[in-house]
Amino acid sequence: MAKKDPRLPDDNLEEPTAPTLPVIEKQTAASPAGGEHEGPAAGESGVSYTGGSIPIPDRPTEKQASPVRQPLGKTVLVKVQAEPEEARGLIQAEEALNESLPPRLAPVIVVRDLIKTYMLGRRTSVPALRGVSLEVRPGEFVAIMGPSGSGKSTFMNLLGCLDRPTSGEYWLSGKLVSSLSNDELARMRNQLLGFVFQGFNLLGRATAVRNVALPMVYAGLSRRERERRARKVLHLVGLGGRLDHKPSELSGGQQQRVAIARALVNGPSLLLADEPTGNLDSRTSIEIMGVLQALNEQGLTIVLVTHDANIAAYAKRQVAFLDGRIVRDEPLSAPRSAQKEWEALLKQSASPTGSTTVVEEGVE
Ligand SMILES: Nc1ncnc2c1ncn2[C@@H]1O[C@H](COP(=O)(O)OP(=O)(O)O)[C@@H](O)[C@H]1O
Ligand SMILES: [Mg+2]
Repeated sequence: MAKKDPRLPDDNLEEPTAPTLPVIEKQTAASPAGGEHEGPAAGESGVSYTGGSIPIPDRPTEKQASPVRQPLGKTVLVKVQAEPEEARGLIQAEEALNESLPPRLAPVIVVRDLIKTYMLGRRTSVPALRGVSLEVRPGEFVAIMGPSGSGKSTFMNLLGCLDRPTSGEYWLSGKLVSSLSNDELARMRNQLLGFVFQGFNLLGRATAVRNVALPMVYAGLSRRERERRARKVLHLVGLGGRLDHKPSELSGGQQQRVAIARALVNGPSLLLADEPTGNLDSRTSIEIMGVLQALNEQGLTIVLVTHDANIAAYAKRQVAFLDGRIVRDEPLSAPRSAQKEWEALLKQSASPTGSTTVVEEGVE
């Protein structure tokens, strides 16, 4: 299973009892209300949950409903109200891609015969991708698998528009990426894509709130507004009680949750995660996969890279790379459920008298 980075804080020290897995529950507009109401702030739309809303700027929703806060003991309950198909404002781009398809079925990603060859000096070329074709549709949860060196990260960097292919086409939400100017590309990346990496890549001296607020710097929002939104998304990932903690004051799983919150704060359509559990122990990996599965349940499209078959088993579709090519691409009829496994872990850690100790993140 995943290696634990020795530099990371010890989760066991941090959380002697089972930490809470944020539970993201589907909340449709028609769902009955119950408990306390907290409507989304004016001008926000899309995804909301107990404790706040993920702001999705400039994305009108067809339905507006108050998210419902329901008491669930001490468990952090997260709710997302958007319907999967309406969640992320993909429709415009999808229409542009293929008008003959119903817009909601059109792919977020279309890759055709992608080739990437790295040049080492003048003479040595490394063929990292040798002709990759793939489509990913809204709402999918795809695990890109394969051994080290098979081209997974190269492929992810191309999907994230962080690098350009040697040849081949990449259509992102209906736009041919190679035809975009640098400004257009930057805007698209900012609005459509969220990134999560193995190493968290958080600013060490900044609090969780400031780390999460960072991607909104370009959105023209005041600092106060940016931090308000950051706090809401931190609530979403179950870190409402650790807003002012710096990375060194958080466990590995918590740091990755901050990174996920940062990836979500601009309301992306597509989350790209490269070995997001690579630095985490198996228990914390379940926690993080639970967050990702719950977000996917609510319509977020996820492409996750992993060399670990146990992690890939949480996805709905597996695409295996070998030597720069796709060698397998198949749906999973019964993905693992992180939520169920988490519940089983909680039962295991219940005291002999049978009373489970569940501690809400950050509330000590
Ligand atoms: N920047 C680079 N320059 C040269 N070769 C690279 C570079 N990045 C990756 N490679 C090579 O490309 C191949 C695919 O690498 P990578 O995409 O990182 O694989 P994976 O993520 O599956 O481990 C490997 O042979 C690797 O050594
Ligand atoms: Mg890699």
